[in-house]
Amino acid sequence: MAGANLSAQAEGAARYVPEDHDLQSLANAASGCRGCGLYQDATQTVFGHGNGDAPLMLVGEQPGDREDQEGLPFVGPAGRLLARALEDANINPGSTYQTNAVKHFKFNRSGKRRIHQTPRRIEVVACQPWLLAEIEAVQPRVIVCLGATAAKSLLGNSFRITAHRGERLEWPTAITVHLEPEPSVVATLHPSALLRDRSDRRQENYEAFVEDLRRAAAILK
Ligand code: URA
Ligand code: SF4
Repeated sequence: MAGANLSAQAEGAARYVPEDHDLQSLANAASGCRGCGLYQDATQTVFGHGNGDAPLMLVGEQPGDREDQEGLPFVGPAGRLLARALEDANINPGSTYQTNAVKHFKFNRSGKRRIHQTPRRIEVVACQPWLLAEIEAVQPRVIVCLGATAAKSLLGNSFRITAHRGERLEWPTAITVHLEPEPSVVATLHPSALLRDRSDRRQENYEAFVEDLRRAAAILK
């Protein structure tokens, strides 16, 4: 079709996901994923990391500039804020598995800087098989979606964080992976949003974020 936007097409990650669902096999396979166009400009796939039996899974949006270079999630500024918030919420980071809805860094170049770009719906959908495979492998009891991209990946495109943040949500029936028991889901802000927050409510917003994390952890008790 004339004018068809090829970049809007993505075959998705499903055909790259191996039968063997242990985390190491998944991570190895994900390093070669070409399920959407984002692998082309990024340095590497940034797969999830942490405790493979974690009761608590934290899902961000996508790796940032530092994560792209180091190959690990949440090692840059947003990760530092997250680490501080976990500490303030009395959550042992060793009890978490941390990953992202999208496994490659999406950015625009501006001189020497690489500026984060929000992934499009088609890229989030393309990458979802990796996230679901990680959830199946780890079998967390609670999943915290950090920000709208993660929340929409699991809870659907019409999900609104502002309407449901901090709530204990049921595992969405639209997602057909085998989980026993099904995890609860809690959605909250993305730590990058708190980093960007220059308003006079910055501290208050940070504390509300910590409170959301505390509520998620309280489900485990
Ligand atoms: N932001 C994310 O969403 N994920 C990371 O891994 C780092 C920053
Ligand atoms: Fe594959 Fe996800 Fe990377 Fe796209 S973003 S190439 S689906 S790993």
